Amino acid sequence: MNEVTVSAPGKLMLLGEHAVVYNRPCLVTAVDQRMRATIELLENSQEFQLEAPDVNVTNYKKPLSDLGVGDIPKGAQFVEVAVRNMTEKYPLSSGLKITTASEFSSLFGFGSSSASTVCVIKALSILLGINLSKKEIFDMSYKTVLDIQKKGSGFDVAAAVFGGTLYFVTGGRAIEPLPVFSLPLIVGYSGVKADTVTLINKVKESFAGREIILDEIYNGIKNLVEEAKIAVLKSDWQKLGDLMNQNQRYLRDDLGVSIPKLDDMINASLLAGAYGAKLSGAGGGDCMIAIAPKETQELVKAGIIQAGGEVIHVKNNAEGVRVE
Ligand code: PMV
Repeated sequence: MNEVTVSAPGKLMLLGEHAVVYNRPCLVTAVDQRMRATIELLENSQEFQLEAPDVNVTNYKKPLSDLGVGDIPKGAQFVEVAVRNMTEKYPLSSGLKITTASEFSSLFGFGSSSASTVCVIKALSILLGINLSKKEIFDMSYKTVLDIQKKGSGFDVAAAVFGGTLYFVTGGRAIEPLPVFSLPLIVGYSGVKADTVTLINKVKESFAGREIILDEIYNGIKNLVEEAKIAVLKSDWQKLGDLMNQNQRYLRDDLGVSIPKLDDMINASLLAGAYGAKLSGAGGGDCMIAIAPKETQELVKAGIIQAGGEVIHVKNNAEGVRVE
């Protein structure tokens, strides 16, 4: 085989963001808008080529021996470092051409960088004839993300690899698939771009000298996640909504990572009859989620639009990385 196409899902954080960076659990669900990567082996070549038009990378080439070296365009970083990490461990005897394409905008915060990293590791393992377990794909992909971002829990990598809905602890210390069919979730995009690492740093800085208080907040969030795991297992959406509202109060009032636009969309969802609503991810923009009974779902969507948001139609609990 000298060509393969692989796809991996995006993700939505359900509960536990920020706390999960610091040895606490979170809940994450995979969404069925997917990232795709095709890798083609180039016989008689020692070149790495990348076409990633969604992130403005076209006709990007360099010798395999220079992978990870020099100035790398932002849109090429994750793919290039993924190839470097894989080929350092499993040497490759030919060049390769990678083409990526996403079904979702990289602006939503659905985890396009992590999903493309996972696609590349999985596709290369197939072309090299190496049988990697899901945990091995997770470990290699998470290492790649940390090499570039330095920070992050890896929850997005886990969602891309395993799919479904997961109970996840920092760095993959626990990755537990929760047997649910799907969640009655509505997703609203704020139109504001957020940078995850900036927000992680902002929280840390704003609690400088008050680390004990921050630790207590994270323990409070951890307790909500543990309760939410049980609510998900019982499909108790009302309870899950209540826990999401409590999680949002920590994010907005204590950590200070919400923004007025997200607050408006969240309030509109609750007024329209959602059981619960919160921001999803680092905050500062990106998406919010609401959980609502069937009867009020259309009203919740209308409320989000009225508050200036965009409803993203996406199924959750989607399948993890797979060969296309
Ligand atoms: O901004 P997102 O959607 O990538 O979510 C970040 C969630 C954090 O907990 C703040 C960071 C992490 O890696 O877990």
